[in-house]
Amino acid sequence: MPSVRIAPSLLAADFARLGEEVRACEEAGADLLHVDVMDGHFVPNITLGPSIVAAIRRHTRLPLDCHLMVTEPERYIAAFAEAGADWISVHVEVCPHLHRVLDLIHSLGKRAGIVLNPTTPLSYAYEAAPYCDFVLLMSVNPGFGGQEFIPGVLRRIAELREFVERNSLALDIEVDGGIHAGNVADVVRAGATVIVSGSALFRGDVAENVRRFRQLIADAVEGAPPGGNLPQ
Ligand code: DX5
Ligand code: ZN
Repeated sequence: MPSVRIAPSLLAADFARLGEEVRACEEAGADLLHVDVMDGHFVPNITLGPSIVAAIRRHTRLPLDCHLMVTEPERYIAAFAEAGADWISVHVEVCPHLHRVLDLIHSLGKRAGIVLNPTTPLSYAYEAAPYCDFVLLMSVNPGFGGQEFIPGVLRRIAELREFVERNSLALDIEVDGGIHAGNVADVVRAGATVIVSGSALFRGDVAENVRRFRQLIADAVEGAPPGGNLPQ
C-alpha cells in the first residue's frame, strides 16, 4: 500500500490570516497544501488567482497543489507555475485538448493531474493515465467547502485503484470534498493516496486534526488491502 499524503484545503482557512494558517499547516505536518482556484464560470464561486499563490509560496516550503476549477485552464497554467504551484490539476470536463494541457504542465516542470467530477466517467482517467501523475476524484460537486461526501465515490476510488494496480502505475489517487475523521479511513481503504480536507482540518486545532487523520489513516492502511471493505 503506497503512503498517504494529507493536503489541507486552504479554502477553509481564514484568508485574512493566510500566512499564519499556511505555517500552522506546515507545523502540523501536512504533506502538501491544496489551493482551490475558482473562476465563477466553471463553478459558481470565485476564490483566488496566481498572485495569492505567489504570496502563499513565500510562507511555506510545502508543495502547492493547485486545483484549477476554471474554464480554459491552459490560459492560466504558466501563471500558476510561475507563482509557485508544484502540482497543477485541470478538470477534464473543460479540456477538449487534455493531452496538450498535460504536456504543457509537464513542460513547466510541474506534476500534472486531471480532475473528475462525481459523475464524470472514469474512462477519462484510464485514457489519460499515461500522461499524468495524479487523478483527483471529486467527492462533492466542486464550488464550495463544507459539503457532504457523496458515498458512491468510494466505488469509483476502488475501481481506479484496481486499474492502477493492474497496470503497475505510479499514479496518485487524490480525493477531495467532504472528508472528515468519520470517513477518512473508508477513503484510504478504497485506495486514495492523497486526502484533501478543508473544513474538518481547519475546525478547531489544525495540528490536532492532522494528527488524528494521520492515526486514522495508519490504522486503515494496516487493517485492509487497497480496495477492501467496500460497500457492494
Ligand atoms: C470544493 C473544493 C474542495 C473543498 C474541500 O470545490 O475543491 O477542495 O475546499 O473542502 P471540504 O473538506 O470542506 O469539503
Ligand atoms: Zn479542491
